[in-house]
Amino acid sequence: MTAVGIDAVEVWTGNLKLDLAETFAPEKGDDPEKYTKGLGLRASSFPDSYEDIVTMGANAAKRLMDRKGLTPDDIGRIDVATESSFDNSKPISTYIAGCLEQVYDGDFHHANKGERKFACIAGTQSVDDAYNWIRAGRNRGRSAIVVATDTALYARGDAGEATQGAGAVALLISEDPDLVEISTHQGYGSADETDFLKPNQQFPSVDGKRSVQVYLARMREALEDYESVAGDVHIDDFVYAPFHTPFPGMVRKAAALAYRHVTRDTGVEEELAEGIGRQPRRESFDDDAQYEEAVREYMDALKETGRYQDWYAAAVDPTLSIARDVGNWYTASVHLARVSALKTALEADRDVTGESMLVASYGSGAQAEIHGETVQDGWAEEIAALNIDEQVADRYDLSWAEYEEVHDRHNHDMDSELEEFTAPEAEFVFDGWGRMGERKYTYVE
Ligand code: HMG
Repeated sequence: MTAVGIDAVEVWTGNLKLDLAETFAPEKGDDPEKYTKGLGLRASSFPDSYEDIVTMGANAAKRLMDRKGLTPDDIGRIDVATESSFDNSKPISTYIAGCLEQVYDGDFHHANKGERKFACIAGTQSVDDAYNWIRAGRNRGRSAIVVATDTALYARGDAGEATQGAGAVALLISEDPDLVEISTHQGYGSADETDFLKPNQQFPSVDGKRSVQVYLARMREALEDYESVAGDVHIDDFVYAPFHTPFPGMVRKAAALAYRHVTRDTGVEEELAEGIGRQPRRESFDDDAQYEEAVREYMDALKETGRYQDWYAAAVDPTLSIARDVGNWYTASVHLARVSALKTALEADRDVTGESMLVASYGSGAQAEIHGETVQDGWAEEIAALNIDEQVADRYDLSWAEYEEVHDRHNHDMDSELEEFTAPEAEFVFDGWGRMGERKYTYVE
């Protein structure tokens, strides 16, 4: 069977930055370590006044097309995943295609375009759609561009305000991919949940604490479902485990639970038992409360073991390096986690060709999905071509008053004007409104 997967990836961050320790924490009267250590975040990316989900997505897609030497004729699909859309009918992929047509010869008139919505998991679902389209043999030799783009803004004062972010990831899905092959095995954990939603409103209604529990519950279901098709997962089977990362502290919780699950009844559990005992089993306890208390104690002890810490440092921590500085990018988040992991490998001069990754996506509302990927031999060249470090370093550092202004500028109910903080260069910008209320865009050299 021909390999299908991600041939190339490009990243675009919002051009502004909110520093959580220096700017956010003092304003809230909080200890900065609540953010840097507790949530695991140093800063969030923000969109400047001329940026939105279209500009960030189109900018990432343009970098992707330029780097791979693609023309519109090479692309048979443009799928956009977002939960920040400003249009309930016209998909964001048409706006992005319109932007790209301004700068390339030819057009995307024979490319299928759509928009996927299921909170943060829609990015992975769009990759699936493209994968299935190629597997079904309907691509006529062409590739798909998947763009995951979001402005993850919360209402001012919401507990989620510390976990905001803005950015886009563009992925090229092709046969014989250079970056990763995607396996056919998938596991799902999906249930009707009311933890995070936007019923015809821009900013989410969030039950933050519950959303954390729902994330963990759906992830566990997805892992069990994955194992039912792919066989038991062993902790040493994969080099990295990129998770959806609303904030790194969330992944810290999920990784520990996943570790407990996959090491149960294995030699790893037996080895650990000498120091911390075996994992509690429900049948050994009279009631749920006692069992849950024993699990909590086991988890606390597990996280202190060298064996767990070494695994976490090698397989999970590298997936969080970009998220720490940019926050939650919703649909793009897990795809940024994959980039972070491979970038860490490249920087450590480590060859991960042929290694597996276990990729864990999640969207509120709620659904988790887990699948395997195999790193392909063009990965190092692909990752070396990214300029994400420069993008992150070049962001304008907002003061608190400026942050308030930018938040208002992007609030759809406020209609506020604001001078830009940065000078756009070689990128698409929002350029005002058309006669039917459509947003308009221009490419700035
Ligand atoms: P909060 O109540 O402000 O924070 O909101 P907290 O009091 O829970 O503290 C956070 C952590 O910092 C805790 O760590 C504290 O102990 C620690 P934990 O105990 O949980 O491991 N802490 C400190 N650590 C060191 N030094 C200190 C200190 N102080 C406290 N001084 C909450 C946290 C996550 C609820 C909030 O940020 C929120 O509502 N976020 C938005 C929702 C969210 O991100 N949920 C995640 C799961 S759902 C998801 O991922 C989907 C999503 O991406 C949307 C989609 O799918 O579309 C959100």
